[in-house]
Amino acid sequence: MQLDLTGKTALVTGGSSGIGQAIARALAGAGAQVTILDRNAPPELNAELKFLPADVTDRGALTAAMEACGALDIVVANAGIVRHGALTETTDEEWRDTLAVNLTGVFLTVQLAARAMRRRRSGAIVITASTNSFDGEADLTAYNATKAGMLGILHTAANELGPYGIRVNAVCPGFIRTPLTAEAFATPEFVREYFRHVPLGRGGEPAEVANAVVFLASEMASYITGAALVVDGGQMAAKFGVWNERNAQFHIDRWTLNAE
Ligand code: NAI
Repeated sequence: MQLDLTGKTALVTGGSSGIGQAIARALAGAGAQVTILDRNAPPELNAELKFLPADVTDRGALTAAMEACGALDIVVANAGIVRHGALTETTDEEWRDTLAVNLTGVFLTVQLAARAMRRRRSGAIVITASTNSFDGEADLTAYNATKAGMLGILHTAANELGPYGIRVNAVCPGFIRTPLTAEAFATPEFVREYFRHVPLGRGGEPAEVANAVVFLASEMASYITGAALVVDGGQMAAKFGVWNERNAQFHIDRWTLNAE
C-alpha cells in the first residue's frame, strides 16, 4: 500500500514553527491539502499550504477556522508551549497558561474535529504529546501534567470515536531541534549529558516526528488507534545511560562509537 494522501484535507495546529511546520510540509508532500492554524504566521506558504490565524484556546476562533477548512480528513493537535520552573516556584499564571494551550487547546481541537468527522464516519486525529507524558523531568510540572493529560484525551477519544471510523493516535517526541529547544541544543555541555541516555546518540529533527505523524494519519495505520508512538531515539528504553567515554566520543551534537 502506498502512503498517499492525495485528495485528503488536513489541519495542523501550531503549524507555523518547529514540529508542526514539519508535519504540515510532510502531509502536503504526501499529497494532502493542508491548513496551518497558528497564532503566528508561518515563514512561507505555497499552493498546498494555507494559513488561518487562530488561538487554540479560543473555541469560537477554532470553530470558525475548522468550518472554513471544509470537510477535514486529518487533524493534528500539535500547538504547545513550555514554561520552565521548579514545582515550588511555578506561578498560577504559568500553570494556567500551560494548561490553557496544551490541555484545553488539545481538548477543543479534538472535540471539534470529532464532531465534524463523526458525521462523515471517518477521519484521523493525531496529538503531539511527549516523552514527558510518561516521565517527570524536573522544572516542568505544568508541562508534564498537560502531556500526561493528553494521553487521557487520547485514550477516551479513541474509545468513543472508533465506532465512527475515526482513529485517534499520539506521537511522543523526545528531544527535538526546534525553536522551543534551540537554547538547550546550543548548550554543548547540556546535550552531551542529555544524549548519553539516547541510544541513537543525538537529538531528533522535526521531520523525523512528522514522518510518524504522516504514517499515523494515513491508511497505512488503518488498524491503529489509541496508540502513543514514541519518537525519541530510544530514550525511553534506556533509563541507565548508554554512552560514555570508554568507547565513544561526543562531537558537536552527537555521540558516536570509537573505531574498534
Ligand atoms: P515551537 O515553539 O517551535 O512551535 C509551537 C507552535 O505552536 C508555534 O508556531 C506557536 O505559535 C504555536 N502556538 C503556541 N501556542 C498557540 C496557541 N495558543 N494557539 C495557536 N498556536 C499556538 O515548538 P515545537 O518544539 O515545534 O513543539 C510543538 C509541539 O511538540 C508542542 O506540543 C510541544 O510540546 C511538543 N513537543 C516538542 C518537543 C521538542 O523537543 N521540541 C518534544 C516533545 C513534544
